[in-house]
Amino acid sequence: MSAAGPDAPDRSVLRGPVPAAVAGATLLLVAAFVVGLVAGWPTEVIGSVLGIGLLGAAFFVAQVRPRTTAERVWPDERRAGDAPVAAAVARHPVRRRWVLGGAGLGALGGIGLLAWLGRDEPRGTPWRRGVHVVTADGDRIRADEVPVGGFGTVWPEGSTRVDSASAVLVRLSGDAEPPTVLEWVVGRRIVVYSKICTHAGCPVGLYQETSDQLFCPCHQATFDAAHGAVPTFGPASRPLPQLPLGVDRAGFLVATAGFPVPVGPVRG
Ligand code: FES
Repeated sequence: MSAAGPDAPDRSVLRGPVPAAVAGATLLLVAAFVVGLVAGWPTEVIGSVLGIGLLGAAFFVAQVRPRTTAERVWPDERRAGDAPVAAAVARHPVRRRWVLGGAGLGALGGIGLLAWLGRDEPRGTPWRRGVHVVTADGDRIRADEVPVGGFGTVWPEGSTRVDSASAVLVRLSGDAEPPTVLEWVVGRRIVVYSKICTHAGCPVGLYQETSDQLFCPCHQATFDAAHGAVPTFGPASRPLPQLPLGVDRAGFLVATAGFPVPVGPVRG
């Protein structure tokens, strides 16, 4: 005897190979979404995984429909295949499926659009946990080989042509101080900041070793590399984003995460 009453949702449509396959794929996508968040996958990939997963979820919501008035009043006739009742049953769920299916597709499109709009935002740069810091030639950099007063442009390994990902590596003349995030500083002096000026997006290209100041040549914004790259002069109002930095087992510099805040000028 079934425990479901006449008002319980009809889940019979969820049985069969197709729903089982969709359920398996949806669970895999949810797992991939969680892994992607933890591992710092690209925004576009995470957004696509989530969007497709939502589509799978929408499929199930669309299938589990409440029983219609006709089904509640004439359940026996429905089982017997009574034509007028079957027609009444059919109208309601079809509409509901279309609405929910459309909502799922809308969510998928919205997430994809957001991922696309955010592709140049910090979490859209190739910097993420485990990506090595390299020179323009693609060479990895050992922490113990960065000279005192060393300064240079660096990139995420494999993405040396992505302008928004360019960064400046500095070996400070003294220990870094707050608001520098000290756990992102290697050996208390090696730090990496975004190279994209927060004023209007020019590349920050100069470094004065004696004062640990970074300079943007476009409008003379100055940033204090020893103190979280806060602006100390000029039109920039926001610090250069600091890259979470560490070393791998072989002593090479490596990102421990992507930039935590947007790089470059912030829109709006
Ligand atoms: S773009 Fe750097 S100061 Fe204006």
